[in-house]
Amino acid sequence: MAAKSNALVVNELDAETKEMLKKHFTGERGGFVRMGPKGYIVTERYKEMAEDIYDMEIRPSDVWVVTYARSGTTWTQELVWMVANDLDYKTSKSIILPERFPFLEHAMMLYPSMKEEILTEKNYDPKIRKLLELFSEPFAKPLASVPSPRFIKSHLPLSLLSPNILDAKVVYVARDPRDAAVSFYHMGSSLRTIGFRGDFKTYWSLFMRDLLYWTPFFEHVKEAWEKRNHPNLLFLFYEELQKDLKSVVLRVSEFFGKTYTEEQVLALCDHLTFSNFKANPAVNSDLLKDIGLVQPTHEFIRKGKTGGWRDYFDEEMMVQSDKWIADNLRNTDLRFPSMQ
Ligand code: A3P
Repeated sequence: MAAKSNALVVNELDAETKEMLKKHFTGERGGFVRMGPKGYIVTERYKEMAEDIYDMEIRPSDVWVVTYARSGTTWTQELVWMVANDLDYKTSKSIILPERFPFLEHAMMLYPSMKEEILTEKNYDPKIRKLLELFSEPFAKPLASVPSPRFIKSHLPLSLLSPNILDAKVVYVARDPRDAAVSFYHMGSSLRTIGFRGDFKTYWSLFMRDLLYWTPFFEHVKEAWEKRNHPNLLFLFYEELQKDLKSVVLRVSEFFGKTYTEEQVLALCDHLTFSNFKANPAVNSDLLKDIGLVQPTHEFIRKGKTGGWRDYFDEEMMVQSDKWIADNLRNTDLRFPSMQ
């Protein structure tokens, strides 16, 4: 038997940390573990799917969007999907994004027990069952029978994906960690599968201490940054999409070998504006409300701003985060546009 890759080595957290996380993450049914040499935080259930994900056969026609959570993933997925599919508005509006562009490891957060609980609450509504299955079935294996081109979203760092991941086209998006964390805090407090209980200061502290889903954050980003000159990896910042969406659309088009007229590019930018996106049921995740996964007041497409973190940080957090960021950027030329 071949030796198990380092990427699949699991390290348990100490009992005290486990207990502390259990109190804060009331939706997580199995607890957390660290995965691979960099100790990325994943859930207990992820262990069941780690090997299938790592061993996935990558096709050159695959299109991946890989990000740390709340970094503009959904926005980029829609942009990428449209560019790669000849601006097929009809399909993009009639088939929800999670079906067109599924979330690879979503099942690590949705345990069968919670699925069953929701199904009971919803009287086994077949529409809800179908959606829940989309989110709760591990599908690295079933993906093998999905026809090309496959579109796949993941929040996993490159090192937990197949070593051949760059045989596919990968778009990686990074966002200022302070804004990503605020956005994730809102999501984590609302999402039933996370069920975070605590204030933002606590969330931020867990984030900096690499105790939140998919952290360590900087390792995640740096892994992709190191590959930014690879012809199959396009590295983007959320802040670039915000500042100049048109030029990002042109870069993505070039990456996929597509040429669009000025008019088509502008129409796509319009399709992707914050207000249009928020009103578009195919991408705005309102369906999470329908299936009881988030509270009815939750806004998946929330503020869409850069720098909103300032409203959440007190003096002490500012000092700590400045140091944390400086320490993590010391040995790299990675620079976030919002920090220059
Ligand atoms: P905020 O919570 O700061 O508003 P992800 O898709 O990775 O979960 O990222 C979600 C973040 O992207 C949210 O950030 C959301 O509002 C923002 N976002 C989504 N669509 C957007 C758009 N069209 N324009 C600007 N920001 C967008």
